[in-house]
Amino acid sequence: MLREGQLLCTYLHLATNEHLTRMLMERKVTALAYETVELENGELPLLTPMSEVAGRMAIQVAAHYLEKTCGGRGKLLGGVPGVRPATVTIVGGGTVGINAAKIALGMGAHVVIVDINPVRLRYLDEVLHGNFTTLSSNRRNIAEAIHVSDVVVGAVLIPGARAPRLVTREMVAGMTHGSVVVDVAVDQGGCIETIRPTSHSEPVYELDGVLHYGVTNMPGAVPRTSTYALTNATLPYALRLAAQGFEDAVASDPVLAKGVNVYQGQITCSPVAETFGLGYKPLSELLP
Ligand SMILES: NC(=O)c1ccc[n+]([C@@H]2O[C@H](COP(=O)([O-])OP(=O)(O)OC[C@H]3O[C@@H](n4cnc5c(N)ncnc54)[C@H](O)[C@@H]3O)[C@@H](O)[C@H]2O)c1
Repeated sequence: MLREGQLLCTYLHLATNEHLTRMLMERKVTALAYETVELENGELPLLTPMSEVAGRMAIQVAAHYLEKTCGGRGKLLGGVPGVRPATVTIVGGGTVGINAAKIALGMGAHVVIVDINPVRLRYLDEVLHGNFTTLSSNRRNIAEAIHVSDVVVGAVLIPGARAPRLVTREMVAGMTHGSVVVDVAVDQGGCIETIRPTSHSEPVYELDGVLHYGVTNMPGAVPRTSTYALTNATLPYALRLAAQGFEDAVASDPVLAKGVNVYQGQITCSPVAETFGLGYKPLSELLP
């Protein structure tokens, strides 16, 4: 139903969907991707509320699938006095990562957070409290942490690009039978090699003895929270677009301009263009 002249504003995750990218180009649609609207300090204001929901949910889901009756190891996330808690490794300590960490720590788990950004690791170390360890992201640290984990949460993001596959099949296969992986980054292709997208109706599958959860729209399960969280963030931008019109709004607001992935059928987001070997045009060269 998309056609020339339309403005589409939503989460698009184009780097994982060549068909959709080519359709938007062919139909000469202008597409604003919520997940690439970016503040000067690198924050992603329209992705953040959904990442908060998904990060918190990731632990809720993992705790559920760790239960024996759900196919898991049969281990309580927080343990009890005298019995070890579960170990949760979170790969990527951004918004999803910190929200997952908060809930996991609140439930009494032992948490390991891996990130590539030392400033972020320092921040996590300052603000989180409880039984946790921060680790710099490299293959060895990731492999060692995964090997002793009951739960792995994938939460890495390189804005606009496909997620790097940091957790290999070999690492997953080395986990204890009945462990759980939740790859929240599955919407950008996933950072766990063995993940594939799943749905709310069939959220998990088993591979190498490990339960895999790959729902691409986790916040959809809690719409009474997610819709308010999302519209709190999007409404100011929607009002600006309505008041100024698209061209004036993006020309006067570099934050909004970053969200434009396709303008009248031309790719204006370089990671998307690079992913599919398509031509890239900066938006500033195309605006009237
Ligand atoms: N499945 C869902 O329903 C759902 C919902 C919301 C968000 N998401 C996805 O979750 C992912 C994470 O989102 P976010 O908002 O937390 O992003 P974010 O930008 O806040 O955090 C990403 C983190 O990854 C880190 N990182 C980058 N490269 C790394 C590497 N090589 N090793 C370790 N860490 C690395 C960054 O330093 C950053 O701290 C995104 O793909 C997002 O689209 C999925």
